[in-house]
Amino acid sequence: ATDISDQITTILVTEEQIQEKLREIAAQVASDYEGKDLLLVGVLKGAVMVMADFARALPYNVPMDWMAVSSYGSGTKSSGVVQIRKDLDTDIHDRHVLIVEDIIDSGLTLSWLLENFASRGAASVEVFALLRKPDAAKVQVDSKYIGFDIPNEFVIGYGLDYDERYRNVRDVAVLAPHVYS
Ligand code: PRP
Ligand code: MN
Ligand code: MG
Repeated sequence: ATDISDQITTILVTEEQIQEKLREIAAQVASDYEGKDLLLVGVLKGAVMVMADFARALPYNVPMDWMAVSSYGSGTKSSGVVQIRKDLDTDIHDRHVLIVEDIIDSGLTLSWLLENFASRGAASVEVFALLRKPDAAKVQVDSKYIGFDIPNEFVIGYGLDYDERYRNVRDVAVLAPHVYS
């Protein structure tokens, strides 16, 4: 594997900590949704890794769908105005939806998605985000399942990118400022 130790400053969450947390949350989700028809919805592309591992930590087979969204506006990301790049293939009317996300940063992406899914008549919509940055919140997102609260720093790995790179890094780490400045 590529050695990126000179491109990161700190490892915030290790691969082992992630897998342990996924087992805990999967057990909780399995009991919360007992007897219900659950649909997992992953938000491309950041959620690919967490979806793959989380879905396989569940004790039963579960359908997965994907949505791709992008913020646009004045150039800064997460303007809150969200555009659908790939819509769901599934009609979620009357379905129990669990949105799977890698991270809640400003919260704007998820708050838009929650409203969008509610308007489609889902029976329930909940959120599982592996990571959350409480100090970056611009809107409060009501998320039932959170893996780890982390500081407001530029993090990469386990799905999270900088300029489409580093998603395949196995831990979650802080990107060294010299990489992006
Ligand atoms: C990142 C991340 C979340 C979102 C969180 O996605 O994966 O989806 O930003 O930010 P917010 O809470 O401020 O809205 P990004 O838009 O970078 O796309 P990607 O998943 O393809 O990397
Ligand atoms: Mn994303
Ligand atoms: Mg990104």
